[in-house]
Amino acid sequence: MTLDMTTMYAMHHALRRELEYIAKIADRIDDDPRKILATAAGWQMFTKSLLVHHTAEDDALWPVMRQTLAERPDELALLDAMEAEHAVIDPLLEQIDATFADPDSGPERLGGLLDALATGLTGHLKHEEGEALPLIQAVVTPEQWQAFGQLHGSRIGPAAPQLIPWLLDGADEQTVQVMLAPLPEPVRAAYRDQWQPAYAALDRWNAGTATS
Ligand SMILES: [Fe+2]
Repeated sequence: MTLDMTTMYAMHHALRRELEYIAKIADRIDDDPRKILATAAGWQMFTKSLLVHHTAEDDALWPVMRQTLAERPDELALLDAMEAEHAVIDPLLEQIDATFADPDSGPERLGGLLDALATGLTGHLKHEEGEALPLIQAVVTPEQWQAFGQLHGSRIGPAAPQLIPWLLDGADEQTVQVMLAPLPEPVRAAYRDQWQPAYAALDRWNAGTATS
């Protein structure tokens, strides 16, 4: 049975989309990028989504694959690489956050960290799509795939009203359908009538839009 990778690709697409906004802010010379990112909802949404996505993979995907692939060193090495890439990328988010409150860290430090984030994440997503997603498709069972999706969803939890429209921003109609179909009708109605309009009205990459 083919696993539906729609949500995985939607997440990767959303992360790439936001990296472009982040790069534009990093290049701003009329304002301090640290001041913008520190209070922009966009940065909050990006970091939350990225951490949930990576930790859900680390906790619910790679470990079950390791069991299935116990005798296959090449595939295990690929899973090692996925975890190692996460372990490089994820701590950058905290290091970037630390520059916001540190007056001694010049803009160069933030610029270097944002560059490392963009390069690391872009390379990782490409690596995962090129090699890990085909391996997932080959060895992960529908039950394991569903368990991963459920853990991912539960960790989004109370942030769903912001992060579901964030995830679907720019997605095609089919992706939206696949994402919304499993949700109960009241949740779909909330998405349509409240979550999506609120997201659309939010200028998320402007300073002062973050929730405290
Ligand atoms: Fe992924």
